Amino acid sequence: MYVCLCNAVSDKAIRTAVRHHQPTSFKELQRIVPVGTQCGKCVRSAREILENERESMVIFLQSA
Ligand code: FES
Repeated sequence: MYVCLCNAVSDKAIRTAVRHHQPTSFKELQRIVPVGTQCGKCVRSAREILENERESMVIFLQSA
């Protein structure tokens, strides 16, 4: 599903970027994928996906 329509960035692209590059902030995520760089309507959803993915990684690492 597209999260950012302006830049055609999907939720999968955001999750993959978080897993591979482990950005610690939304700004850092934006250096990897061009999400939220135009109208900004997707920023809230993209931030939620970033936080959810980071939390899943922590849970995964704690259970390993
Ligand atoms: Fe992402 Fe417009 S929908 S910047």
